[in-house]
Amino acid sequence: MVTPHIDAKVGDFSDVVIMSGDPIRAKYIADNYLKNVTKVNNVRSMFGYTGTYKNKKISIMSHGIGIPSCSIYVKELITEYLVKRIIRVGTCGAIIENMELHDIVVGMGACTDSKVNRLNFKDNDFAAICSFSMLFNIVKVAKKLNVKINIGNLFTTDLFYSDDQEILDVIEKYGILGIEMETAGLYALAAKYKIEAISICTVTDHIKKLTKISSEDRQSSLDSMIRLALESTLL
Ligand code: HPA
Repeated sequence: MVTPHIDAKVGDFSDVVIMSGDPIRAKYIADNYLKNVTKVNNVRSMFGYTGTYKNKKISIMSHGIGIPSCSIYVKELITEYLVKRIIRVGTCGAIIENMELHDIVVGMGACTDSKVNRLNFKDNDFAAICSFSMLFNIVKVAKKLNVKINIGNLFTTDLFYSDDQEILDVIEKYGILGIEMETAGLYALAAKYKIEAISICTVTDHIKKLTKISSEDRQSSLDSMIRLALESTLL
């Protein structure tokens, strides 16, 4: 079935989808890591691709920025395209002292300033957590590939540009590993629709140290995270 935002046919997607916010990053992953690639979505230039990674059928789909955009694609992938596992490969800002640019964060949980989960969860706090088995697989692959990962809490914000300095101090105090804009929504949808999801993010800027990865280095700096995500789908 074609949805308002995805014009693929049922069966065009794998049941495992790797998602990135940026459509160009989705294209980069498809072009550089998959074989036998077909483009399965073009609507709004929110590109989706299906191909094979080491003979396993895998799809890559972009989701845009923020919980509202991401939720549309995630919901439609699950209910119309029968997707069962989603790995978000994203970027995040770091705040605590011992995180550096290029570090990889695996979001075991995600706090949020968004109202979205409260809207769905009767104004209560939903504990947004990743799939344990996907986390377990990522840990195994990270060991095998000798890639350092940091596992812990993300903070999913609705405001990329915020005037609130105090929240940054609170985020630091509570040991949040990265700030990004989608994971709390993704994990709640996974729970609601009984699928599995996990977010992996690479630190592209440090909010306290005022450092960031240059735009030229951004794409290649994400390669270890992408490899980690793809290899974990083979277990
Ligand atoms: N804030 C929110 N989202 C982000 C950031 C950030 O600093 N960096 C990358 N994604």
